[in-house]
Amino acid sequence: MALRSRVSEMLGIKYPILLAGMGGASVPRLAAAVSNAGGLGVLGAAACSPEQLREWIRETRSLTDKPFGVDTLLPASVRRGTKPQSGGGDLDPMEVLGEYKKFARDFMEKEGLESTGTSSIVSNAGSEGQNKGRQDSPQFFSKEFFEAQMEVVVEEKVAVYAAGLGNPGPWIDRLHANGTKVMAVVGAVKHAVQVVNSGIDLIVAQGHDGGGHNSPIGTMALIPQVVDAIGGRIPVLGAGGISDGRGIAASFMLGAEGAWIGTTFLATDEAGIEDFQKEVIADSGDGDTVVSRAVTGKPARIIRNKWAQAWVEAKKEPLPMPFQSIVAGPVLAAAMAAKRKDIAPGFAGQGMGLVKKVRPAAEVMKDLVTEAETALSSARQFA
Ligand SMILES: Cc1cc2nc3c(=O)[nH]c(=O)nc-3n(C[C@H](O)[C@H](O)[C@H](O)COP(=O)(O)O)c2cc1C
Repeated sequence: MALRSRVSEMLGIKYPILLAGMGGASVPRLAAAVSNAGGLGVLGAAACSPEQLREWIRETRSLTDKPFGVDTLLPASVRRGTKPQSGGGDLDPMEVLGEYKKFARDFMEKEGLESTGTSSIVSNAGSEGQNKGRQDSPQFFSKEFFEAQMEVVVEEKVAVYAAGLGNPGPWIDRLHANGTKVMAVVGAVKHAVQVVNSGIDLIVAQGHDGGGHNSPIGTMALIPQVVDAIGGRIPVLGAGGISDGRGIAASFMLGAEGAWIGTTFLATDEAGIEDFQKEVIADSGDGDTVVSRAVTGKPARIIRNKWAQAWVEAKKEPLPMPFQSIVAGPVLAAAMAAKRKDIAPGFAGQGMGLVKKVRPAAEVMKDLVTEAETALSSARQFA
């Protein structure tokens, strides 16, 4: 039995397995390795300046002649310039920013962290220089920043674009005119219906188990409900806690036609995160993650750490995106420079316990395919 679906045909790839766009981790060499192994590598470009994004696309092209994709964020509140809705209560971010920055400075002092003078938005963001070119770029995570990134995606005519947050609707016509397939990641049926009505080509249903920005609904419950709501109009990919081939097979059973996989690919030689973070992933188990707003301001699944815990202990409400990253960025950059796994172990999903060692991405891909094919074949014994 060979693992294939509508997704492999649409994207011109061998297996319907996609490397999830992960800021700091899904760098050109990892995306190229996954594409070269028959999946689709997707660059985690959320925090890339437009200049850096263009360099990443060109670098990936130099490493593979296979299709690959780009993932960025399009948070609706930032693009509309309205007050963000996720969390933050009645707080006016600008009013409390000074106090919150002091909280961060006090935390750094208590932990003996020295400022690096830089900021890391994604807690796994390694030394790949995502901040490069920022001086001349639009303000980080502003409406202009997201729009400038999208101009690069359009100009570079990438094979696949994935919106990790928000609706890529305003860009769909220009992307389609270039032959780009457009995807969106959703965590709820309502959002799925909205983005499908915008004309996207594929949709990712990512449940609560997943690493990074996070839905309140579990993967097992979310996938079939999104599949039913979409009614076969476009293929659904399952995501969240899919960390081996059995998970891929299970998501097929739930009606998905492919998988969008993050955490498993963090423990690879090619991932852009720091070695100490890869080791934490290989050594940790199912219960070692928490959902916290302490990093980006939106609920994100992250490996347990002192920074997230400090907010819980202080009973402090993190600020909405993009303000929380202004507070957290310098702390995480300092913790990363000091290789502090107790403070900056990074984002990861609940499938982390299935990841036992750091190895080449091609090996991970090979196992994912073999395990999924075996699980799908053996499922027949139950019917
Ligand atoms: C380290 C890390 C960074 C992530 N960064 C992003 C990101 O920048 N943009 C995005 O759309 N999703 C991001 N995600 C979410 C992934 O794209 C994906 O949905 C998730 O990893 C799937 O769950 P899994 O980790 O259990 O496989 C991130 C996830 C992780 C683990």
